[in-house]
Amino acid sequence: MANKESSYVQDIFNRISHKYDFLNNLLSFGLHNLWKRKLVKLLKPVDGENWADLCCGTGDMSILISHRISPSGSVVGVDNASEILSIARLRVEKKRKKLISNKVIKWENKDIFDIDHTVNVFDGVCMSYGLRNLKDVEQGLEKVFFLLKERGRAGFLDFNHSSDKSLASLFQKIYLRFVVVPFSKIFSLGSEYSYIEQSIRDFPDGIKLIQISKRIGFSSAEYKTLLGGQMGILLLKR
Ligand SMILES: C[S@@+](CC[C@H](N)C(=O)[O-])C[C@H]1O[C@@H](n2cnc3c(N)ncnc32)[C@H](O)[C@@H]1O
Repeated sequence: MANKESSYVQDIFNRISHKYDFLNNLLSFGLHNLWKRKLVKLLKPVDGENWADLCCGTGDMSILISHRISPSGSVVGVDNASEILSIARLRVEKKRKKLISNKVIKWENKDIFDIDHTVNVFDGVCMSYGLRNLKDVEQGLEKVFFLLKERGRAGFLDFNHSSDKSLASLFQKIYLRFVVVPFSKIFSLGSEYSYIEQSIRDFPDGIKLIQISKRIGFSSAEYKTLLGGQMGILLLKR
């Protein structure tokens, strides 16, 4: 990718923050909610655990996990784009009356690479549509490894990078070029969303993600595809 520095990605997400949830729902036909729920189901967070939702955006995963780890657990949602994080904060404020309290979810506006990982503090870490956006995927997975307690688990939901000649890859390109970009252009966000195709091209495929994770030291790594290979879930255990 031409430019994948944190500040470049941060600018994109600050710019699209006001339309992020709306376009996510529209462009995925609401399916991203199902995939996020699936990830939570696979990760099985339980009451009393401490979780981190890295690259949390508007906080979908943090909110889903908060229901599982309440009342005695905690979730910290981390994102370096302040605009998108302020939407997450506002959402939880609004839902405060419905059980999710600010005591359970905390927000941190910082780069995930700046989190101090000298102590293994989390029972679980999740990242939805974040790993692909990091300046270095391997360093991102390494960071997660050090943040997890022994036997902690992590799950990553993202676009699946399938081989260039596969039908899944062809469908993905058509969908991104002829649905996602034109629709986002209507909201003057075409260039921001054309970044997705570029980011998938540089993203390791499932086999590579497993290899990288094992090299880092995760004791178990598995990869599942969703929707005919359009999306993928990487599940890791420390
Ligand atoms: C595609 S959004 C995903 C948001 C949310 N997790 C979801 O699934 O809707 C990617 C998010 O990652 C954040 N991000 C990218 N690189 C980051 C980094 N190095 N540190 C913290 N946040 C980062 C962006 O600001 C953005 O909010």
